[in-house]
Amino acid sequence: MAETNRAWTMASRPVGEPAPKNFALTESAVPEPQHGDVLIRTLFMSLDPYMRGRMRSGPSYATPLKPGDVMTGEVVARVEKSKSQKYVAGDIVRASIGWQEWASLSAHDVKRVDPSLGPVSTAVGVLGMPGLTAYHGLLDIGQPKAGDTLVVSAASGAVGAVVGQIGKINGCFVIGVAGSDEKCAYVVDELGFDAVINYRTQNVSNELGRLAPSGIDVYFDNVGGTILDAVLNNLANKARIAICGQISQYNAPELPVGPRNFQVLLRTQSRAEGFLVYQFERQHEVGRARLASWIREGRLKYREDVVDGFENAPTAFIGLLRGENFGKLLVKLSD
Ligand SMILES: NC(=O)c1ccc[n+]([C@@H]2O[C@H](COP(=O)([O-])OP(=O)(O)OC[C@H]3O[C@@H](n4cnc5c(N)ncnc54)[C@H](OP(=O)(O)O)[C@@H]3O)[C@@H](O)[C@H]2O)c1
Repeated sequence: MAETNRAWTMASRPVGEPAPKNFALTESAVPEPQHGDVLIRTLFMSLDPYMRGRMRSGPSYATPLKPGDVMTGEVVARVEKSKSQKYVAGDIVRASIGWQEWASLSAHDVKRVDPSLGPVSTAVGVLGMPGLTAYHGLLDIGQPKAGDTLVVSAASGAVGAVVGQIGKINGCFVIGVAGSDEKCAYVVDELGFDAVINYRTQNVSNELGRLAPSGIDVYFDNVGGTILDAVLNNLANKARIAICGQISQYNAPELPVGPRNFQVLLRTQSRAEGFLVYQFERQHEVGRARLASWIREGRLKYREDVVDGFENAPTAFIGLLRGENFGKLLVKLSD
């Protein structure tokens, strides 16, 4: 086949913030599918914070990348050729093929996307891994009740925006924490959060004290660090903290000591619990169907930050870890 497959590999491990030199663009021939395989072409590539973790060596829940490996990631793709009875050319699927334009893989390793649920890009966004992270992390780990005060950090992002809206659907008073006035206005005006704090310009602990005088019942933690500290200062009794991510530490060459005030968990008899979206895999189809129905009913909104062009993936990823994305970050490769 005359087409060339381009892929982004990890050229070297970043120390601190990733830089363009840590990524390399490689080219190879587009593979021919073998019996039982499908040849797929990427339409949208998902960029997610966890990818920074894969670039790091050391203990993790997933195998780290080695220099020269294709960057990890999930894509939405179109089947171009099928040597499997499960798929025909033109089917839309998602697959974890990493940052590349084409791949040939077993039909068992791709998942069908149902275009009737929404635009196909949502299969790696609000109806995919980030949406399901919000759904299970909040409902199964955070266990919100009507009347609870819920705080969520990275509130305008792929996960945080869904968390806050599910909190509203469940009758919570929802406070977002975000990193710009534009993001703050969006979560209140568009998504219907009750209040928001700009952690770059406001004192988060003081603002939480003012907005939640009876304390915080549920904290959905996407960032860790000083925002987690501020929440702990304002915890209600029997609070639940869902540890989803710690993005404020992903680029840190040395992990800071802390959190400083975990004794609050003792005093308030509260619980902090980490989770991974994959632990709820058997319930994902139920979650996806509910998320899709909330979108249809106009109760769940989403925003995508779509970067055009495969060559721009490293720059967009570096920006994600700086808070430059506004909504679910995707790279668009093809119509
Ligand atoms: N446990 C799981 O299974 C699971 C699954 C998916 C995602 N996650 C985690 O969920 C979190 C959110 O992921 P996402 O995909 O929804 O990303 P996202 O929110 O769309 O994008 C990341 C956002 O994090 C914020 N951020 C970046 N650096 C920060 C810092 N130093 N301090 C505070 N905020 C910072 C930025 O927003 P601001 O401008 O508002 O700061 C940025 O836009 C991440 O920690 C991710 O690792 C966990």
